[in-house]
Amino acid sequence: MRKTKDEVIQLAEQFAKQYLEKDPSGHDWWHIHRVRQLALEIARRERADNYVCELAALLHDVADEKLNESKQKGLDKVHDWLMITEDDPSVIDQVMYIISNMSYNGGKNAPLATLEGQVVQDADRLDALGAIGIARTFAYSGWKGQLIYNPEIKENEDGHHSFDKTAIQHFEDKLFKLKDLMNTPYARELAESRHQFMEEYIRQFHKEWNGGHATP
Ligand code: ADP
Ligand code: NI
Repeated sequence: MRKTKDEVIQLAEQFAKQYLEKDPSGHDWWHIHRVRQLALEIARRERADNYVCELAALLHDVADEKLNESKQKGLDKVHDWLMITEDDPSVIDQVMYIISNMSYNGGKNAPLATLEGQVVQDADRLDALGAIGIARTFAYSGWKGQLIYNPEIKENEDGHHSFDKTAIQHFEDKLFKLKDLMNTPYARELAESRHQFMEEYIRQFHKEWNGGHATP
């Protein structure tokens, strides 16, 4: 018998919890929950398909490359699950398209081709910003074994100078770039204030690091 959308959503919740409930790398169940809430709110404003957005939000990190043997294995896991849970092949295609293509990848990827993809990507990126984004950055960094910060410039074998990959470095590398990459107007608006909060945080961080003096 065909499952209702509500039933599929409930099963997707269980599936995501099974893999991510206690994930220590910033992708625990509550990240999924926040992305889902944000995706539903953005979808409502953009008149996107809320079922596709909610399902993709719930499944997006089950396939994460970092938490699976490979990107393909992660995607296969979600695809296999969708094949036994969701009857509509068009929904399966749409969700697989989103979770296969929404990752940051250095900001080099072309914008997602579907409105639902743009909505879920914005929701996931918003959860990397602001107070929650800061918390997740340090959680991830600890999980990876990175330092909080290292102001010393290092020299590579090929003579190039670089900084260590640290939690603080991640703000420049990625987080401060996200606000200009938002797809939808509402996400851009939310991103703006979260961005400002992170700037304030980084200013204060360097001030404390320098014994109370603001950096030039
Ligand atoms: P998602 O797929 O949920 O957007 P990611 O897997 O890219 O998240 O990262 C999880 C969290 O860890 C995010 O908040 C992200 O900003 C942070 N993060 C990712 N890479 C690094 C890194 N090298 N150093 C510190 N934080 C990171
Ligand atoms: Ni995510």
